[in-house]
Amino acid sequence: MLRRILRQLLPLNSRNNGPCHFTFDYKSSSIEEIAYALRKFGGVHIKNFYSSSELVEVFNDYLSDSFTIPDNKIVYDFDVKDYHHQRGPVIRGSVATEFTNRFGRREKLFIDSGMIDFFSPKLEGKQQIASDSIVSFTNNVLALAFSEQFSSGQHHIYIYNSVKTPRCFHRDCYVPRVKSFLTLKGVDSLEQGPYGFHPFSHRLRWLRFSILQVINFIFGSDLGGSYTDSTLTSSRQIVPFFNTCGDLLITRQDCTHGDFPCTVSFKKVVLVQNFFLR
Ligand SMILES: [Fe+2]
Repeated sequence: MLRRILRQLLPLNSRNNGPCHFTFDYKSSSIEEIAYALRKFGGVHIKNFYSSSELVEVFNDYLSDSFTIPDNKIVYDFDVKDYHHQRGPVIRGSVATEFTNRFGRREKLFIDSGMIDFFSPKLEGKQQIASDSIVSFTNNVLALAFSEQFSSGQHHIYIYNSVKTPRCFHRDCYVPRVKSFLTLKGVDSLEQGPYGFHPFSHRLRWLRFSILQVINFIFGSDLGGSYTDSTLTSSRQIVPFFNTCGDLLITRQDCTHGDFPCTVSFKKVVLVQNFFLR
């Protein structure tokens, strides 16, 4: 209850964090200004990074409204302890997570229910070319933005089918880590459940992360089921990305980030590439 009140009272860093500060057009922007914005704000939106007509054609299977996966094709290896080492596709939200609701009672939540997560899917021809272009461009941005060196990790394709209960806003870690999202089917309203992040929230990250972990460890997360949940961040502090096919989003995952709940019937699709510290 106290944290719910604090979330209303502590909207930090509301200054100078509108999307105009970190939104760029690919053709008319320099990589230096994109890198500077990523370093300063923690996220960037690069419009028209890739040809939308080409993406629609080559990722047509994933974008089709009739796309479904038979149950016997779902792969989840329970012997693999690290989620990131799974091979998909995996249906998220099939197992309930318990959390403490606003009245202090335990409640079950099916996080990311409606989402299909393809782990390192095999990419064919022009799909691989699109993926390679994200890796190459993001590596160049990271080389300018950070003193640390990164290397690319696994890729995913996320299909969100009207995800009404996304994971709450959170940090993945407190060391720099980056994700690049190539939009295959974007969103243009809050009701469709855009991805977003909290600008500047990577600052003092070690301190913020430590305090949050201790609070969440003692009291439990009242928003989800993890110590890394941003239980002192209001959704009003999260800036949503409204994007279209071909746009590229790059965010630091040590910034608070996540998806807004989708409150209408809507499908969004992204190709995601991870980057880890070497
Ligand atoms: Fe995350």
